[in-house]
Amino acid sequence: MRIDILTILPDLLNGPFSESIMKRAQEKGHLELMVHNIRDYSTNKHHKVDDTQYGGGAGMVMTIQPIVDLIEKLKSERDYDEIIFMTPDGEVLEQDLCNELSLTENIIILCGHYKGIDERIREHYITKEISIGSYVLTGGELGAAVLVDSIVRLIPGVINDETSALSDSFQDNLLSPPVYTKPSDYKGMKVPEVLLSGNFKKIDKWREEKALERTKDRRPDLLEGKD
Ligand code: ADE
Repeated sequence: MRIDILTILPDLLNGPFSESIMKRAQEKGHLELMVHNIRDYSTNKHHKVDDTQYGGGAGMVMTIQPIVDLIEKLKSERDYDEIIFMTPDGEVLEQDLCNELSLTENIIILCGHYKGIDERIREHYITKEISIGSYVLTGGELGAAVLVDSIVRLIPGVINDETSALSDSFQDNLLSPPVYTKPSDYKGMKVPEVLLSGNFKKIDKWREEKALERTKDRRPDLLEGKD
């Protein structure tokens, strides 16, 4: 899968993709990640990427020229399944959307800043607008990092044990049950007996019960429409 991220703060995105699973996904060829600096495409002599809004009002708006030139350049090189804009007024990211996007081949993710981007970009180029939650960030970069992480870990082969992505919280609309590791008794805090029993039928049943209990308690909305 190829992902092109368009940003005015490319350095913000170095960290999340140069460690652990995201790093390995690139080394193993599952992910080709390209981070483009929008500023490099500005024809303005000072490489300006924002301007005041028409009609007045506080806050700068990201200009159309560098973003459209960059998108057009990328589109002339390959077909894109989606051109995504990270924005607090987009569709809120949920696991179903991550699953859907993990099946695509090429996507562009545009990170917004300031007061927003010139609406004509949204009208003519953007195919999907995504929010990572009902709060406002200073820019789309952290949202883009969250989105990429949530998608890439679903690509077969990225996580060693593929079943582990399938058994994630949310994949079946249930939160995950509690997990424990050694030691079985830490200063009197004990691991539930059933997990030490070796009876896998009982263990599976216990995990199902705990997952349901936790979901009812913390995210009853996930159970709506389920019997
Ligand atoms: N940019 C600013 N806030 C955001 C959010 N909540 N999700 C995605 N992009 C954003």
